[in-house]
Amino acid sequence: MKPADDVAFTALARKICSGAGFTLGAYKDKCIRRRIAVRMRACGVHTYADYHALLDRTPLEYDRLRDALTINVTRFYRNPETWDLLRRELLPQLCERRRGELHAWSAGCSSGEEPYTLSALVAEYLDRVNRPEQLHRLTVDATDIDRVSLERARAARYPSQALAGLPAELAITYFEPVDGERRVIERVRRRVAIRRLDLSTDAPVRQDYDLILCRNVVIYFDRPMQERLFQIFACSLAPGGFLVLGKVETLLGPARERLAMVDPRERVYRRPT
Ligand SMILES: C[S@@+](CC[C@H](N)C(=O)[O-])C[C@H]1O[C@@H](n2cnc3c(N)ncnc32)[C@H](O)[C@@H]1O
Repeated sequence: MKPADDVAFTALARKICSGAGFTLGAYKDKCIRRRIAVRMRACGVHTYADYHALLDRTPLEYDRLRDALTINVTRFYRNPETWDLLRRELLPQLCERRRGELHAWSAGCSSGEEPYTLSALVAEYLDRVNRPEQLHRLTVDATDIDRVSLERARAARYPSQALAGLPAELAITYFEPVDGERRVIERVRRRVAIRRLDLSTDAPVRQDYDLILCRNVVIYFDRPMQERLFQIFACSLAPGGFLVLGKVETLLGPARERLAMVDPRERVYRRPT
């Protein structure tokens, strides 16, 4: 890149931070440049300076750029083998520890598919062991930086085809038809508290999580940020609590000394008791 380009890129990055309310510092540089290039192509501009000027003229472009930067792709029961492990082993174990009291965090929850999958699985387990009333002891903090995704998560309504990846019995039992769509039923929905939280700057909601899911989020962060976040997760887990990362993510840095590997394939780690 030419030095003039570098100056224009720095000015643009500064503008995005103030205009889109976004801290770019934690993200991989290559990742940011690639996403900005996508938007520049879509807008038909060829230089950072021109894109900068376009942002001044078109506030709506901030929304599009933010969408491009945050990548909100998600699915119910994404990576089924990971959920199968949670369903078969980890959640029953956690539910039995304190008679259903279980605090979970879906960090980078996007439009809610991950935290609702989790809440439905806990409901399924408690229903199966005839203790449905214990579901109120579950809390799931569902956090993300992206306001649009959070709005979708709050609505908890999804097109029917979005449920295709869920085991059929979960889709039938824990979702209800509403105006041609499917909504998470109330007792499952109410366990999930949705809020905006920037993982690069904000503190976790609690320090005693039994389970933290942070999947397909840290891949976009640079290494120092990843290491910092893993330390934060290690500090935010109760003894015996689990951390689950995405299938292509690996625990790095000092947190490796504090969390034990439980399942290398499903990227499950645990704070020793
Ligand atoms: C690819 S989605 C992953 C969603 C879900 N965890 C899954 O695995 O299906 C990544 C999410 O991370 C969120 N994200 C990106 N940067 C973030 C930040 N600094 N703080 C909080 N969330 C962030 C994005 O908005 C997006 O919703």
